Amino acid sequence: MPGPDSPIGVFDSGVGGLAVLAEVASLLPGEDILYYADSAWFPYGDRPVEEVRARAEAVSRALMALGAKIIIVACNTATSAAIAHLRATLDLPFVGMEPALKPAAERTATGKVALLVTRATAKGEKLAALIDRHGAEVSVRVVAAPGLAERVEGGDLRGETTRALVRGYVGPAVAAGVDAIALGCTHYAFLRGVIEEEAGAGIDVLEPSAAVARQAARVLDERGLRNPRTAGGAVRYLTSGDSGAFAAIRDRLRDAGARVPEGASMPQGTAT
Ligand code: DGL
Repeated sequence: MPGPDSPIGVFDSGVGGLAVLAEVASLLPGEDILYYADSAWFPYGDRPVEEVRARAEAVSRALMALGAKIIIVACNTATSAAIAHLRATLDLPFVGMEPALKPAAERTATGKVALLVTRATAKGEKLAALIDRHGAEVSVRVVAAPGLAERVEGGDLRGETTRALVRGYVGPAVAAGVDAIALGCTHYAFLRGVIEEEAGAGIDVLEPSAAVARQAARVLDERGLRNPRTAGGAVRYLTSGDSGAFAAIRDRLRDAGARVPEGASMPQGTAT
């Protein structure tokens, strides 16, 4: 049985969840963390819901086999497709992503907010339910942004192709009066700088990584699973893709100024 000394599991289709990982590692520096990038199956956002659900379960089982005491689904697409299934199927606490629509609704002066998401998340029932909860106070414009997560996965956070894509998604929303943009895909956290620049002054860009880390800490406390250490936690990385390529993209993101914790790569083949 996992206990307080066991690691936290975090997963995403690729590097997007690293933004969540950075928040978890900084809030809970005594915790060991396993980060699983399901890179062989990237992108989740263009896959049918059943496929994303099956991958989320396989990845979660792999993290459980490595002793995880809690799993953070650091991917909006997987949260939308699979978190109810994971909670019903596996005996472990799960924490998922939720776009920061509530803070966006509190901040907006125009009453218009945009949600930037993958195609799969845009179609999901979970997003519809979230919009129902907040949609009475504000008008929510859902912007599916295919291609953007791929720019991040390729390490291009500020290039002209990335910028042009962002402009194409954000420009029409801002022209329509949106003054708050909630990021609903973990990969987009790495594009926050470009999104803010393309949206222009006076537009709030919100993402929930820090809130998700706080939620994970609350769940650990409730279950008596928080590691009593306050320092010395280690991060280990595993991937269903190529571990050398995954290490290289982590370095590239760090070089581009992103916060990506240092950690050892687990041997190729550890991941399912
Ligand atoms: N990081 C995933 C999310 O938060 C999306 C990337 C993908 O399409 O795989 O939705």
